[in-house]
Order: sequence, then structure tokens, then C-alpha cells
Amino acid sequence: SFAVAAQGQAARHGRAGDVADPQDAALAFDAGAYTTLTVTVDGRPVKVRAYKEICYVAAPVAAAAQQSGIFGSTIIGNTRCGYESMNVFVPESAFDDQRAPVYFAVNNGGWMASYIKASVNDGSFYNSATSNVGAALKAGYVFVDVANRSRGLIGADGSSPGKAPAAVVDAKAAVRYLRLNDAAMPGSAERIVVNGTSGGGALSSILGAAGNSAEYDSHLAAIGAAGIDSKGRSTLRDDVFAVDAYCPITDLGNADTAYEWLYNVLGTRDATGSNATPGDAAEIAAGFPAYEKSLELRNPDGSRLTAGDMLDTIEKEVVRSAETYMKADPANTVPALGATFDITSGGPGGPTTKSYVNDWIDVDNAADKVLSVDMTKYLKFVATQATLKTTPAFDAVGVHGNTTSGTETNLFGPYTQKYMNYTEWSWNHNDVAGDGSGLDDTGLTWDQYTAEKSTTLDDQIHLIDPMDFIGTNADTAPNWYVRNGTRDRDTSFIVSINLDRALEADRQVENVDYRLAWNQPHAGNYDVPEAMAWIAGVVE
Ligand code: DHB
Repeated sequence: SFAVAAQGQAARHGRAGDVADPQDAALAFDAGAYTTLTVTVDGRPVKVRAYKEICYVAAPVAAAAQQSGIFGSTIIGNTRCGYESMNVFVPESAFDDQRAPVYFAVNNGGWMASYIKASVNDGSFYNSATSNVGAALKAGYVFVDVANRSRGLIGADGSSPGKAPAAVVDAKAAVRYLRLNDAAMPGSAERIVVNGTSGGGALSSILGAAGNSAEYDSHLAAIGAAGIDSKGRSTLRDDVFAVDAYCPITDLGNADTAYEWLYNVLGTRDATGSNATPGDAAEIAAGFPAYEKSLELRNPDGSRLTAGDMLDTIEKEVVRSAETYMKADPANTVPALGATFDITSGGPGGPTTKSYVNDWIDVDNAADKVLSVDMTKYLKFVATQATLKTTPAFDAVGVHGNTTSGTETNLFGPYTQKYMNYTEWSWNHNDVAGDGSGLDDTGLTWDQYTAEKSTTLDDQIHLIDPMDFIGTNADTAPNWYVRNGTRDRDTSFIVSINLDRALEADRQVENVDYRLAWNQPHAGNYDVPEAMAWIAGVVE
């Protein structure tokens, strides 16, 4: 049935070759340009054809360097098109398989530009129960590892050409490359499954949400993406078949509000974790009820999902998470109330283990049932086992003189400017003179600036936000698997819950498998057998 739907969409969006697309000749896939690797998956050798550093755009950005940042990225020199390239790995079972699914792994960690990864190396060993790479190769999927521009990227001209929506435009260009070359490449561009974690989960989500939206056409034309004709119109599709996203750091324009609301509503914010003045968090949080209402999402019983229901909604998701975990395996148990348990976290000096006492969830392990959850103590636990982000959590640069924060503020603004506040509260509280951002420098309030001066900033926020595209006439992916750990403090639980509820309400979406992942931190691909079984089910 996907073939029929694809034909309909091809007619609607045009077909490659209808109009001579100026850049498409430069983007032809060279089927012979591979090296052969041998890897071992579950003890068996697998031959893999590696197509390395395929440039997926005709006019790649000239990059000078990648800022080293809080996420440990390294400074690299320019390459032919490092940030707009991808590696394609074809396992031997897919050498001649035009129907093989394409496992499309994005990076975008920290919402930072990502250089191409080696991903699959000669002689590597994989366990398909723990490695998504090994599992994808074993399943006979074409594995694509995609680099992209994003924040932190410094252009050869000294500007910042990775600002929003560059990451999304690049990922769409990579999909278009696969569509343009579908006949020449192993695997099917009609069966793209996008995988990503955190910043990558966010990129996966917007890529899945905003398929074929014409709002990206001018951006795609600027980088020489496949399937944009000489009049700047799209002649190829960039919708995808499925999304497999972990802890998406998405809906950035509203992430601060959701974060402060969640960690202040029950008084669980760790005061020492905040660099803000008293009252800031409350002001930011105050915007949440109106925002949640504006989404017009629904509870399972059909009533409107409001801020008033949100703690109850989170509690139910936590209960479902724990019960699913207990049911999955008799060996899976939740510590008894009052029992001590350990959490091991990774870190610069290697893993460290700390002990905690369960003071928040009471279960009957024999019956796989949750008896009670204390939400105040739960949120305190989340905020204790990984220190909360400071206030504001996502748009802190420029606020209270802060010029060193690593928040996403530098994802926004013109290429020529280091950063620009992208939330109303931070805009109106920017007090760094001369940074070109905020009321102090522009003389305009947020409303005035976004209404009068810059639709560009509005567009940057909009074009990376799946919440703006789900339920519209964009071609949203029909299949979604989304996970967020129950002890992930990198964004509010509200963000992925809202994403799920919007997807559930979208008639184009056929299959949503959403859950908080029991006792997982900010991480992804920790559930390889379950995620791969879900993918196998949807591509069947
Ligand atoms: C990531 C983590 C964050 O806390 C964030 O704000 C953005 C991205 C990440 O791990 O990719």
C-alpha cells in the first residue's frame, strides 16, 4: 500500500526528471564507489559495502571549523563537504535488494553541527541485542549515517552558517538525495526509518513531521538540494516512512516554560541549581497553562489536556512505564519503598555509581502493579540524580549578563550574529549591551520585534518545531516510536508527552508507540531488540 500512496504523492509533488533540476546531475550516486568491509555481528562475519562521505548537496557550506563546545565536539578543518555528507553502509543481504528499509541515523548531538562519523569500521564486532548498528546490518537494512550543519559551526567567512533551520534543511536534503538516487542505490527511499537521540531525536521528529512542506523550498534551493527546479520549486519528496526518536530536545520555543512549570509547580526545583533571580522561574512558568491550552490536545477520554491535567498525565505515564518494565521479564523489579538502589552514570573520568533510597514509588513486583507514586518526591528524585538545568534552561545567553551559557540561544539569529534570544522572557530580560539581541539593543519588545522586524526569527523557531507541522497538510510520517527516560532531566517530560498526543490526533499517523522508558537517563538506543522489532513490524 505504501507504493500506491507514494505514487499519489509523487504526482502531487512532481517527479524527478519533469524539469531539469540544475543540481541533480552533480548529485548522481556512484554505485561503484565503495570499499568492502567485514564486520562481525553476533559472531558471524558480514560483508558491508561502505560508501563514505557522499556529499548530499550540490552547494555545501564552506566550513572553517567546529567550535569545541559543552558537548565535546572537536575543531576540524574544512573538507569537501563534511557537514553535508553521509556514509552509506550496505550489508551483503541488501546488495541487490531494492526493497530493503533504510535506517537513517542522524547525529545533531547538543543541537550542534555534526561531522560525518565512521559508523561502521572494518573488523568491528557488534552484538545485535545492544547495538542498533549491528541490529540494522543483521536485519539487512541499509545503514545511513548523516552529518548536518547546526549551531557551533563556523563558516570560512567567519559567520555561523549552522543556525536554524540548517540542521533540518540538511536532513531533508539527505532524504532527497536518497529519493533522487533510489533506483541506483540498494534499499528503498520509500522505507526510510529515521533514528536519533536528544538533539538527534529532535531532528528526527521535525524531519518526520514536516515532510514535503513547501516552507523549506527556498532553504533547500540555497544549498543545492536534490529535486529543486530552476524556478525554486520542489520536484522530489522528502517525507519519511518512520521515526525512531529518543528524548527529543524539541519544541525549543516553549521548552523553558514547560521546564520551569514542571520543576516549580510542586516546589521541587533545586535552588542551588539556578543562576536566576528569585521570581524568574515563576515568571517563565506562568506562560505554561496558556501554551498548553493553545495546543488543543486531548486526554484519552476526549477531554482537553490542560496544565491542570499535566501532573496526573505524567504520573500515569510513569505508572505505565514501571508496569511495562515489570511485566516484560520476571527478573525486572522496582526497588521497594525505602530500599537502597544504585545508579551508575557515565562521566569524564569513567562511570560513577551512587546510592539512592526509593522514597517515591511503591510497587507490587509480584503483581507487576504500581501501588502509588508521590509526584513531589519523584520530581525531586529526577532533580537530584542529575542536577537540573539552570534557569532559563534553553535560552539563557544574554540574560543577567550571561555570555558563557551553552544553551541553544546560538541556534538562532542571523548568520552574522553570535546568538539571539528566541523566547519572549529571555528577549525581554537580555541585558548584554551590543549583542544585537533583546529589548535593550533593538528598542523593541519581543512582540514588536517578531511582528515588525523579523519574520526570520519566527521562522527559525517554527521550522525546527514538529508541533507546528503535525496535524497540518505537511506529509507527517505514518509511523512513530518515541522514548524518553523516566529520570531524564534534559527537557521536561511534557515535551515528549505533547509530541505523542499531537501524533495520536493526526489522521495521517497510523502507528505511535510512545512510552517513558523505565529508569533511563538522557540516552537513546538502550532498547535495541524492542525498537528493532517495532521497525520490523512497520516495514513488513
Ligand atoms: C542535548 C542535550 C541537551 O540538554 C540539549 O539541550 C540539547 C541536546 C543532546 O544530548 O543532544
